Amino acid sequence: MSAEAVLARINVMKPWLGEEEARALAEVVASGWVAQGPKVKEFEAAFAAAQGVRHAVATSNCTTALHLALVVAGIGPGDDVVVPSLSFIATANAVTYVGARPVFCDVDPATGNVTAETIHSALTLDTRAVIVVDQGGVPLDLDPIRELCNRHEITIIEDAACAVGSTYKGRPVGTAADVAVWSFHPRKILTTGEGGMLTTNRADWAARARTLREHSMSVSATDRHGSVLAPPEVYTEVGFNYRMTDLQAAVGLVQLGRLPEVVQRRRDIAARYVAGLAGLRGLRLVADPPYGTSNFQSLWLEVLPGFRTTREGLLARLAEAGISARRGIMAAHRQPAYRWRDTGKSLLQHTERLNDRTLILPVFHELDDESLSRIIGTIRDAATGAAS
Ligand SMILES: Cc1ncc(COP(=O)(O)O)c(C=O)c1O
Repeated sequence: MSAEAVLARINVMKPWLGEEEARALAEVVASGWVAQGPKVKEFEAAFAAAQGVRHAVATSNCTTALHLALVVAGIGPGDDVVVPSLSFIATANAVTYVGARPVFCDVDPATGNVTAETIHSALTLDTRAVIVVDQGGVPLDLDPIRELCNRHEITIIEDAACAVGSTYKGRPVGTAADVAVWSFHPRKILTTGEGGMLTTNRADWAARARTLREHSMSVSATDRHGSVLAPPEVYTEVGFNYRMTDLQAAVGLVQLGRLPEVVQRRRDIAARYVAGLAGLRGLRLVADPPYGTSNFQSLWLEVLPGFRTTREGLLARLAEAGISARRGIMAAHRQPAYRWRDTGKSLLQHTERLNDRTLILPVFHELDDESLSRIIGTIRDAATGAAS
């Protein structure tokens, strides 16, 4: 590919970073305190306030936050955890890390999310927890799941990796789960390079997660390095190094301040796609469910049999036009890592259908009108069979 073609390419995502982030980073560098310290504390407090939860514990990424969530919830060998197969593989992997069994359940074809019904049909006598995912930023319907889980004494872990800025019944997602986790990878709409967060209203779980992320040291590194004569520390259990750095947290604070503007821009772009693709047979765009709003982190499109070409055909057509769309969300049960494992007996028909037929369209803050028109025009041409 020529340099011009690379420059003209429209990517599926581009993080929105600027001068403010650069200044925040420079300040941390000048302060001399670059590892987990005051900025992480400030970011945790700001994130908890923004999400309407009592406690936030910053981590190195969302996968490590998921691992911590399962550990603090007391999940281990012999336990089953119901998870959607239709999710990034980290959702299932975290269950495997703690020696429990991921049991896959299907999803609602409209949202790509698990429901009380799909979870119910995957329950076993050993189910102790469920990991529910706000897939691609689309909020899941938590209340019926809460009712089901209360009846069976099952812990709800919400994998809100993609869903910062999405709402459920007028509140930020994640608040009604026992514990929620978030990702700040650059593919997400709030980024710290790599990074994650665990949020919960339970003080005991937050305190344990805070200690576990730092090797389970009784004296945090911040306090140790902050004192002239460091107090002796005790290692209370086998912990991990899942810390975020102050460099990341400084960027996160700036990004958090921009979140409402970023979400609004993504929702405007989604509305442009809806208008631009209106009237085309055989295409279905993901939309807000009746009970909440999506941040449209991943705006996915289902290519139905009534469309002129297949999902692969449309992806190829977009690629020829220099537009880098992506296949939709993966299905973990189809991957070699899980294909041969015992992961329950649920029929995963909607998962497989969405995995086979969806693609993710470019959405990012600086996507301009010309590029949007080019993407929409390419899809319309594919629908009519017009030459590009
Ligand atoms: C649903 C879901 N869970 C977990 C993760 C893992 O996040 P991280 O890359 O921050 O570990 C991702 C990342 O794509 C995700 O989409």
